[in-house]
Amino acid sequence: MLDILDGLERTKFCGEFTTDDLDSEVVAHGWVANRRDFGDLVFVDLRDRTGKLQVVFDRSKFLDDYDKVDKLRNEFVISVCGKLVKREEDTIDPKSKTGYIEIRAVKMKVLAKSLPIPFQINEDDSPSDSVRLKYRYLDIRRDVVMQKLLLRNEICKIVRDFFDNNSFIEVETPILGKSTPEGARDYLVPSRVFPNKFFALPQSPQLYKQLLMISGIDRYYQIAKCFRDEDLRADRQPEFTQVDMEMSFVDKEEQVMQITEKLFVKIFKDTIGYDLGTLPRITYDEAMSKYGSDKPDTRFGLELVDISDLAKDCTLVPFKNAVLQGGSVRVINGKGMFEKLSRTELEKLVTFVKGTGAPGMSYITFEEDTPKSPLLKFFTKEQIDEIIKRTNATKGDVIFFVADAKNKIVLTALGKLRLHLAEKFDLIDKSKFNALWVVDFPEFEYSDEEERFVALHHPFTAPKDDCIKYLLTSPEKVYAKAYDIVINGYEVGGGSIRIHDPELQAKMFEALGMDDKKINELFGFFIEAFKYGAPPHGGLAFGLDRLVMLLSGSSDIKSVIAFPKIQTSADLVMEAPDFVTDKQIEEIHISLIKNNSEDKI
Ligand code: AMO
Repeated sequence: MLDILDGLERTKFCGEFTTDDLDSEVVAHGWVANRRDFGDLVFVDLRDRTGKLQVVFDRSKFLDDYDKVDKLRNEFVISVCGKLVKREEDTIDPKSKTGYIEIRAVKMKVLAKSLPIPFQINEDDSPSDSVRLKYRYLDIRRDVVMQKLLLRNEICKIVRDFFDNNSFIEVETPILGKSTPEGARDYLVPSRVFPNKFFALPQSPQLYKQLLMISGIDRYYQIAKCFRDEDLRADRQPEFTQVDMEMSFVDKEEQVMQITEKLFVKIFKDTIGYDLGTLPRITYDEAMSKYGSDKPDTRFGLELVDISDLAKDCTLVPFKNAVLQGGSVRVINGKGMFEKLSRTELEKLVTFVKGTGAPGMSYITFEEDTPKSPLLKFFTKEQIDEIIKRTNATKGDVIFFVADAKNKIVLTALGKLRLHLAEKFDLIDKSKFNALWVVDFPEFEYSDEEERFVALHHPFTAPKDDCIKYLLTSPEKVYAKAYDIVINGYEVGGGSIRIHDPELQAKMFEALGMDDKKINELFGFFIEAFKYGAPPHGGLAFGLDRLVMLLSGSSDIKSVIAFPKIQTSADLVMEAPDFVTDKQIEEIHISLIKNNSEDKI
């Protein structure tokens, strides 16, 4: 029996042994998670990705050289052979799934030694991000991290099985592609063969998956790596993974939404046993006016209320003007917040709102049933009564007002204030997952920076049929056949029915301000492809990382990615990006602006 150790065949993973295995001779491999040394008796917790298993080395029963046991240290990799037995009553650990059993070792092999590691692999220890991410391969040994990767794997399996069962096929698309405008900044790769030309890493497989519809793939999916050179946020990585899908012979949003919804319901049910229910649908306009966001967190109220019709007749000039100039005045009722907010804290909220880009914020307090505020003198009693009615304000409340000539500024400010207040006063039920569809997006949004309309989703999104007539004349009136799936305030996925008529696609590019020459340069291949029989089609992509993050109860996207990038988009494990040799640079026909910087990342 002891010879089996030579071959490294294990009986089971550590966490998989149960009382069914009692009294059998077993082999287990793993890392020494910790050891308790009582001289002739040494207890080791052997860890692998499934959990821990206690191993007892008893000098009197050990058939091997006991010196090896004495020299064991944490994180050594060992292979142990022995009998699986019930633990002594006083060593039972009911909290552990292997807490009733242990291996009585008779033989042990040290497969690898380990230096003392830079931090302890235990749940309570939480080393700094920079240390953990530099030694991410060790960090992954921690159960909290390992569990996230296992969950991710489980989700990918559900995704693959689901698409397979629904006649989708997985097709890989290139990583080296072409830079196209719209969207985020591209990661560029210089070409060695074509001087001065560049590949771009895909921001998503959007163009390829549409071409695959023209190929007749009919139903495509891919768990695809995407790259966007943008500033990082807690829910954003420069390199991330999408579950990307596209289907032919669909022309209604519902068709794509229904199949996606089925998948989401299944993922939540099969992984964490949560019933997502039927996802409500809310239009973009409604989401913006109620929640000040196109990705509303609906786990709490604090909805926005429009009082522009009242404010336009008040005597406060900035309020009045905001409405007259096409903007709005909106409010949120901070229910019961009067007692909890000192004057200083109220002023801090004003500063917070100013930080979002709004000119300021005013408020009315309800210490008693009657309102108090310098604002009151600018409104008639009837107007104030109407505001109270609309907001349902009573004793103990605070109504927050934001006004601006740009609606977007008011909505953004109150949308952010809403989230801020909910966090501050712990109004969010963290055990809930509120998933919903946001539909009827505008096709375009005006970019102040570029002084033109840009696509809100991407330029391949089909406009609603009754809006096509406004494409070139009134882009602001054009709504799109687009939809987003939002969970707990995160945009988890988005997609649309696509344009499949080359003429309409060309018109769309024109609406985005591209002339024929530019359209041809950038998208000539795409428009041409559509001339060879393009079926109606539509699709969606969701962020795998974001979904795993939500399902694992985390709010940090890095935690669910094996080797994530840090804030500066650098990889701490490999210390990338890094300098390369002059020869490598020469080969790709690039010259560097030398600054002799040897800065480490
Ligand atoms: P979109 O740009 O909305 O759509 O991306 C789809 C989903 O991908 C996730 N996501 C990200 N996750 C982490 N880090 C990022 N930097 C990041 N950017 C996006 C989000 C988002 O909802 N081609 C279209 C989809 C389509 O129309 O089919 C697309 O890429 O969860």
